[in-house]
Amino acid sequence: MKALLKRKFSLTDSGVEAVRRAALISFLVNVGYMALMLIAMHYGDNVLQGVMKPAWYYLGIIAVTLVVLYVIIDREYVLTFNATYKEATALRLEIADRLRELPLSYFSRHDLSDLAQTIMQDVTDIEHAMSHSIPRCIAYVFFLIVMAILLLVSNPVLGLAALIPLAVGLMLMFLSQKAQKRWTEKYFWKTRETTEAFQEAIELQREIKSCGFEEENYKAVAASLDNAERLRLRAEFTQAMPILLSTAVMKLSIGIIAVVSAALLRASAVQLIYVIGFLLASMRLVDAMGAMEDYFAEFFYLDARVKRINELRSTPTQTGMEIDLKHFDVELRDVHFAYNEETQVVNGASFVAKQNQVTAIVGPSGCGKSTILRLISRLYDYDSGSIIIDGRDIRKVSTDALFDKVSFVFQDVILFNASVLDNIRMGRPDATDEEVRQAARLANCEDFVLKLPEGYDTPIGENGSKLSGGERQRISIARALLKNAPILLLDEISASLDVENERKIQEALNRLIAGKTVIIVSHRLKSIEKANQIVVMDSGSVDAVGTHDELLKTSALYRRLIEKSRLTEQFVY
Ligand SMILES: Nc1ncnc2c1ncn2[C@@H]1O[C@H](COP(=O)(O)OP(=O)(O)O)[C@@H](O)[C@H]1O
Ligand SMILES: [Mg+2]
Repeated sequence: MKALLKRKFSLTDSGVEAVRRAALISFLVNVGYMALMLIAMHYGDNVLQGVMKPAWYYLGIIAVTLVVLYVIIDREYVLTFNATYKEATALRLEIADRLRELPLSYFSRHDLSDLAQTIMQDVTDIEHAMSHSIPRCIAYVFFLIVMAILLLVSNPVLGLAALIPLAVGLMLMFLSQKAQKRWTEKYFWKTRETTEAFQEAIELQREIKSCGFEEENYKAVAASLDNAERLRLRAEFTQAMPILLSTAVMKLSIGIIAVVSAALLRASAVQLIYVIGFLLASMRLVDAMGAMEDYFAEFFYLDARVKRINELRSTPTQTGMEIDLKHFDVELRDVHFAYNEETQVVNGASFVAKQNQVTAIVGPSGCGKSTILRLISRLYDYDSGSIIIDGRDIRKVSTDALFDKVSFVFQDVILFNASVLDNIRMGRPDATDEEVRQAARLANCEDFVLKLPEGYDTPIGENGSKLSGGERQRISIARALLKNAPILLLDEISASLDVENERKIQEALNRLIAGKTVIIVSHRLKSIEKANQIVVMDSGSVDAVGTHDELLKTSALYRRLIEKSRLTEQFVY
């Protein structure tokens, strides 16, 4: 039972405990209601027999029963709900923690809207089931069993009359279970798809508008919605039909009891009070069954959500030892990597980037340069071969220990909607304000920062939307300067900048790279001519390694790249 609950609803031990408690209480509540009914019957019996007791006797029993019920419900519900909320919080934190440990590759394979939905909505749904449906459903099952035994023992004929329709209804429900499950699941995935379509449409507003795709995009989203609607109808239909049918069959039990008991009464084989009792009990049972059907529908609906959470749980995380790396030559040995099964992106790359040297990676667009940098920083883990730093395979070094030694300046700088100061401080969270300003000065940020309305305290808008590309770039260089990590990875950072910006960034960079292992990806070949070593890549593998002068002699690809780059540099509007 416990294992089933844990698996079916992704609950923890304490969650199962809370459910058990809630189920017990729910059962007692059912018994309480039945007790009230029995009191009513007792009263009716007394009236029929003409042996009335004083009014306070009946009122007293009712009052005591109600007080007992109230106390139980109140105490246990508080406990249950507290436990449920704790469970939901714990589950959300667990998922968030999990997300933190997952390699970036997980995120490139999953949609962000999807993950957000898993954390918020799916957990809310599970929480609801945990505090309401699961315990009540379990309680009803036990209640039904107890009632069935009581009914059968007290009058086998009437008992069967009450129970057979219920059993048939229940069977109908289970028979339709599979179909229900399939359609609900389909609907669930379709909704996810629609959400994604919407999110994409919103995120890409600018591109969609500027390319005149509005019409098509609208049609695509509308079609997706339409489709979801149809699936929903289908799912509702497959769910509603069997439920209606089985409810109808179950409701028959009341009629059947009436007919059977009429015959029994005529034959004086039963007392009227029993008949009333059976009618009341079977009404209660039909209600309980109706509620159970709703709960089952909810469980089907939850199934896909729980699967999703379990999938997240079973994805392997990045592990590794906390090692204080001391030497920073970076060596790639026959590294292979693919983002997805279809296409091999890095295909046996080998080279060494030495400490205190600048290593440049060049090659046609899409040949895997950025990917190599991502592999070196363990944003992704390579599939085979090895990347060695300080004699260790980086897959055996924890990401924290590695990130500590690596600064990464990307082409696309990610900035947070916080002050300039805080954005730079991300490089080293414990840096003082003065250290942050110092880094900003070295990165040539000061001239534009001081022009902002509140200087360093100016919030810079979501993803730095208030700054130009070059300014954002300089902020990210300031971050890297502040962090001062011994390995520095630079990815196309001078792409699409104006001359003034580029000169300033160049100055800042020269300060940054002193004494480090620098690996720089650039398609501006002029800027890397002086690099200690240039790695020429071609579709995932290394074509040649050498200095500029050597490569001019040995690599045809390099000569071609130089020629191309010269053409673009000569390009005038
Ligand atoms: N996150 C990703 N998921 C799947 N494929 C990717 C991803 N990033 C890049 N790729 C693909 O991998 C190849 C190499 O990309 P990249 O390393 O960015 O090339 P480069 O930096 O040399 O231009 C490209 O074909 C690109 O489409
Ligand atoms: Mg790139």
